[in-house]
Amino acid sequence: MASYYLDLLIHWVFIVVILLISLKLKPLESQKLNNPRLMQAHAALEAWTHCMTSDPNKITSTWSGPNVCNYTGIYCAPAPDDSTIFTVAGIDLKNANISGSLPEDLGLLTDLDFFHINSNRFTGPLPENFTKLAYLYELDISFNQFSGPFPQVVLAIPSLRYLDISIPSSVAKMKDTLNEIIISNTGLTGPLPQEIGYLDKVTVFDVSFNRLEGELPGTMQGMKSLEQLVLKHNNFSGVVPTSIFETAVDTYSHIDNIGCIFKR
Ligand SMILES: *[C@@H]1O[C@H](CO)[C@@H](O)[C@H](O)[C@H]1NC(C)=O
Ligand SMILES: *[C@@H]1O[C@H](CO)[C@@H](O)[C@H](O)[C@H]1NC(C)=O
Ligand SMILES: *[C@@H]1O[C@H](CO)[C@@H](O)[C@H](O)[C@H]1NC(C)=O
Ligand SMILES: *[C@@H]1O[C@H](CO)[C@@H](O)[C@H](O)[C@H]1NC(C)=O
Repeated sequence: MASYYLDLLIHWVFIVVILLISLKLKPLESQKLNNPRLMQAHAALEAWTHCMTSDPNKITSTWSGPNVCNYTGIYCAPAPDDSTIFTVAGIDLKNANISGSLPEDLGLLTDLDFFHINSNRFTGPLPENFTKLAYLYELDISFNQFSGPFPQVVLAIPSLRYLDISIPSSVAKMKDTLNEIIISNTGLTGPLPQEIGYLDKVTVFDVSFNRLEGELPGTMQGMKSLEQLVLKHNNFSGVVPTSIFETAVDTYSHIDNIGCIFKR
C-alpha cells in the first residue's frame, strides 16, 4: 500500500515537474520570436506600409501578422546586445519599385544594421529618427526620388560606414568613419566640394553618371586611402591632380568623362 502511494506521489511530482518545465520553456521559446523589439519592429513596418502608395511587384504582400522575420526583405538576427532574443537586423527592398515615403516610426528599428532601398520611387525627407539607429552600418537610398537639401540626419548616424546618397560639403564631418562613397546616378550637379579632400579614410569614391562639372578640387590629394575613383559620365574638366594617382597618372591624367576609372 505504501509503495502504491509512493508511486502515486512520484507520478504527480513527475507531472508537476513536466508542467513547470513546459511553463518555463514556453515563454522563452515565444520570447525568441515574440519579444518587445519585434513588436516595435512590427509597429514600424506597419506604419511604413501605410506610407507606401504603390507596390507594383507586391513585395510587401507578405507583410502581415506579428512574425516580421518572415516578411520579404526583412532579415532577423540575434540582438547585438542580447543574443537570446531576435531582432530586425536588416531591410533589403532594393529594385522593388515601391513608391511612398519613410515614416519617423522607422526609428523604432533600433537594431538595424543595413537599410537598402535603392531603386525604388521613395520621396520626401529621411526620418530624423534615423539618428537613433545606433548600429546602422550601411545606408543605400540611391536611385529613388528624394529631393531637397542633403539630409543632415545621416551625418548623425553613429555607426554608418557605407553611404550611397548625394554629397554635401558637410561630408567632411564624416571624415573618420566613411569608407566608401558611391553616389552614382543621383542627378548631382556642380563642382565637387573642397571638403571631399578631408576624407582620408575613403577607399572608393564613385560619382559616376551625374552632371558634375568643373575641376577636381586640389584638396583631393588628401584622400590618402583612395584605391578606386570613378568619375565616368560627368562633365568634369581639367586634369586629375597627379598627387592622387602616382601610378595611374600617365595613362589617365586627362579626365575622360566617358570612362574614368582609376585603381591604385
Ligand atoms: C513563414 O512563411 C512561410 C511561407 O512563406 C510559412 O510556411 C511559415 O509557416 C511561416 N512561418 C511563420 C512562423 O509564420
Ligand atoms: C515601376 O512602377 C511604375 C508604376 O507601376 C511603372 O510605370 C514602371 O514601369 C515600373 N518601373 C520598373 C522599372 O519596373
Ligand atoms: C521620433 O523621434 C521623436 C523625438 O525623439 C519621438 O518623440 C518620436 O516618438 C519618435 N517617433 C517614432 C515613431 O519613433
Ligand atoms: C559640359 O560643359 C560644357 C562647357 O564647360 C558645356 O558647354 C556643356 O553644356 C556641358 N554639358 C552638360 C551635359 O552639362
